[in-house]
Amino acid sequence: MPEPVYRITGGRRLRGPIEVSGAKNAALPCLAAALLTDEPVVLERVPDISDIDAMCGILQALGAVVHRDRAAGCVEISTARPGDAGIPDHLARELRGSILFVGPLLARRGAAACAPPGGDQIGERKIDLHAKGFRTLGAQVAVRAAGIDARTAAPLRGGRVWFDYPTVSGTENVLMAAVLAAGRTVIVNAASEPEVACLADMLNAMGARISGIGTSRLEIDGVDRLRGVRHRMIPDRIEAGTLAIAAAITGGEIELRGVDPGHLEPVSLKLGEIGVETIAGSSTAAISVPAGLRAANVQSMPWPGFPTDLQAPVTALLTRAPGPSVVQERVFENRRTHVDPLKLLGADITTSDNEDLITINAGKDAPPPLHGAAVAGNDIRAVAALALAALTAEGETTIRGVEHLNRGYERLDQKLASLGADIQQP
Ligand code: EPU
Repeated sequence: MPEPVYRITGGRRLRGPIEVSGAKNAALPCLAAALLTDEPVVLERVPDISDIDAMCGILQALGAVVHRDRAAGCVEISTARPGDAGIPDHLARELRGSILFVGPLLARRGAAACAPPGGDQIGERKIDLHAKGFRTLGAQVAVRAAGIDARTAAPLRGGRVWFDYPTVSGTENVLMAAVLAAGRTVIVNAASEPEVACLADMLNAMGARISGIGTSRLEIDGVDRLRGVRHRMIPDRIEAGTLAIAAAITGGEIELRGVDPGHLEPVSLKLGEIGVETIAGSSTAAISVPAGLRAANVQSMPWPGFPTDLQAPVTALLTRAPGPSVVQERVFENRRTHVDPLKLLGADITTSDNEDLITINAGKDAPPPLHGAAVAGNDIRAVAALALAALTAEGETTIRGVEHLNRGYERLDQKLASLGADIQQP
């Protein structure tokens, strides 16, 4: 297949309504959780993106029967007869989400191994906290260069897990192992992202007993078995934020549909400081820039902080806001691969090596104009940030690395085009 490329000619204001897809980072753990029952699981509003293809491939390799209706966003999984095959290395290395099978496999089969999970190269992305949680539940865990190997001779038993950092996938993994463990598990300093809550709600609908959902303390009373479920993914707050920034960077006006405005609050409040207005309805958010963009400082944090997944997109936006802005990445050590290509488009940005500060020196009265160029990105959100910048650049920008973007965004080019962007994928 030819390498997917975006060609974007900047200068069009985005306008109109747009439907937001289901959340990638909710769908990944929910797919893995389907392994926890021998009854059918139906997931709705699953985005049609390549990370989901890889997760479905792993489920099939593990013995699940998977039926997927891409157009309807529906995936039906049945693991009545789980085999004993492992997670194929090549699929494990395709995405970070592959690590999420370890918890369910440990709970259901008593053993799990996974090659080092792939995903974006945005930092070291250790799995020591996953291992710590599994050990607390009684598993023997080895983490080596070849990946993680976890096994337990006796059934898992509840325990008190304290996370040094509120890891999203670590919380999800330990939660999935704990729901079938004997007795009570408490996870202290758990991640409280809406995607973790979406998974916990699914598990409770399957018969699990989890309390504290949406907080940093999860209490889980183990049960003997879980039943099948039909569960709908929450809206993708990162896609919604990306589209909001696309509207803002072009000075446009759009209406996001099918969103949860509560999930967007950390983003809409920060965008408000930058001059981007959000008028929220019950499941909509109208985005506009009534009086121009303003410089601001942003730091990424776990929920309810500003999401790291929108750090690159907001950096692109701040290149268009007069005055100096500072962006600090506080979740991943190396999430700034968007900076050099943004400079190629004409942005004046400097970075500090040790503190992960990105300083945007947009002139006091008017930021330097961006101009089209050939650029490339190598992670989902970095490529999205380049697409956003290209929407305001003079002339044509060619963006390579769209295969990374396609791992996490459902037809972003078509969505931007439907709002009026001049974007082609030749
Ligand atoms: N960390 C450890 N040890 C661990 C686990 C994490 O030190 O055992 C560190 C990481 O190195 C990182 C920080 O903790 O510095 C946060 O990592 P976390 O585990 O919370 O992130 P993740 O589960 O690997 C998920 C999303 C990411 C999103 C982050 C933060 C999935 C599959 N991925 O990653 O999504 O950025 O949470 O919200 O859910 C994306 O969608 O583009 C993406 C990268």
